[in-house]
Amino acid sequence: MNEAEKRFIAFTAPYLAYGDMIRLKIDHSLRVRDLCADIARHLCLSPADTETAALCGLLHDIGRFEQWRRFGTFDDLASADHGDLGEELLRSDGLLEAFADHDHDVILAAAAYHGRYSLPDTLDERTRMFVNITRDADKIDILGLLADRGQAKKTHGSIISPPVYRAALDGKAIRKQDMTTKADVIAMYLALVFDLNYRISFELLEKNGSIGRIITMQTEETDSPELKQQLQELHNHVNLYIRGQLDSPDTRRPAGVGYTL
Ligand SMILES: [Fe+2]
Repeated sequence: MNEAEKRFIAFTAPYLAYGDMIRLKIDHSLRVRDLCADIARHLCLSPADTETAALCGLLHDIGRFEQWRRFGTFDDLASADHGDLGEELLRSDGLLEAFADHDHDVILAAAAYHGRYSLPDTLDERTRMFVNITRDADKIDILGLLADRGQAKKTHGSIISPPVYRAALDGKAIRKQDMTTKADVIAMYLALVFDLNYRISFELLEKNGSIGRIITMQTEETDSPELKQQLQELHNHVNLYIRGQLDSPDTRRPAGVGYTL
């Protein structure tokens, strides 16, 4: 365990008293850290920048712990934006300095913007890259978690609503506030793929086989022929998109647009 991980474990330990959900967020943060480092290495970043990417991943959800303690929920709409909360926390009481002696702005931006639908134009190229690495790692882990839990999300006979379905087929990420049915949540998860930035991210996603497993699980969960049909069509669409990204020479996109949990 390195120094940063020790500090992170020490920081999060008191929050474990607030329930099992805290353990899930600790584990998620550690996995996103590893994924960020993987992506950074594949982008041939220097060891120092790879370390910074790992710290971005480790600390991206630091606001989740206070969010749970203060509000008892991880729902940003019902409580506070956990990205803002994380940035605020890192800025206070020398917390960020305890983790890193440089690249503070980059780490703060990763915490603040990892879950935003779109990124501000004001971000410089270097900062944007670290934020995008963090966003990709976060999404890969979120999809992996959903696939691994071995339990489908309950859709209660609903189908994906027409506006959300159209947006997903248009290759757009889904905004939380636009979801109106239980099945929309599935479309939102699948559409996370459209916001990945790097070819290596698609490779990591493919290695997990998360998308196929989610589709199989959700298709078995529902009795609605219409939702089964939607899932099949979305699966084909997402697969085609992933193939296209893996076949293209560079998947880096000019601006992060999308939505992360
Ligand atoms: Fe997050």
